[in-house]
Amino acid sequence: MASSPASDLPPARDPDGPYRVCLVCLGNICRSPMAETVLRDAITAAGLDGAVAVDSAGTGDWHIGEQMDASAREALSRRGYDGSAHRARQIESSWLPQYDLILAMDRNNLHNLRRMAAGTDTGRIRLFGPEGGLTEPDGGQIPDPWGGGAEQFDYVLGLLRRATPVIARRLARLLESDDAPA
Ligand code: 4NP
Repeated sequence: MASSPASDLPPARDPDGPYRVCLVCLGNICRSPMAETVLRDAITAAGLDGAVAVDSAGTGDWHIGEQMDASAREALSRRGYDGSAHRARQIESSWLPQYDLILAMDRNNLHNLRRMAAGTDTGRIRLFGPEGGLTEPDGGQIPDPWGGGAEQFDYVLGLLRRATPVIARRLARLLESDDAPA
């Protein structure tokens, strides 16, 4: 296998299973489900179908069971994505050990997740934007568009569409190096 620079994403917990990624925001009706939709697409484009499993959750409980916010679905649909299947979930601390990588949309989400993890394996809990090469706005945080206009949702979707191919390429490198003979 061609050698490639090792990715610094955390290694798979189970080398035989799919690499599990969870994207996390506050309500799980805007940012993280939009990110889930576009990261899935980038994973397919990177040839990683079946090798990476992506889902999402929120730290808050207000919208459990609800569909993605209508403005989020509309922004996705303007770009050719279908966000209709999503139903919001609230993350629980018992879920954390199931994931190889947990990506928070902003620093509040990151702080809440790390507090839930209570010091265990916090290296797997990271900020989404910088992992996808975003340094702006505000350190690569994805701003909360909830209650905003279509242009805010389009802006957020643009950020997500910039970051997700970078993350997919890094996952491809990681999984390629995991597969390499020792
Ligand atoms: P999200 O946006 O975290 O991107 O899903 C929000 C949705 C709902 C609320 C806050 C943010 N809320 O307070 O209900």
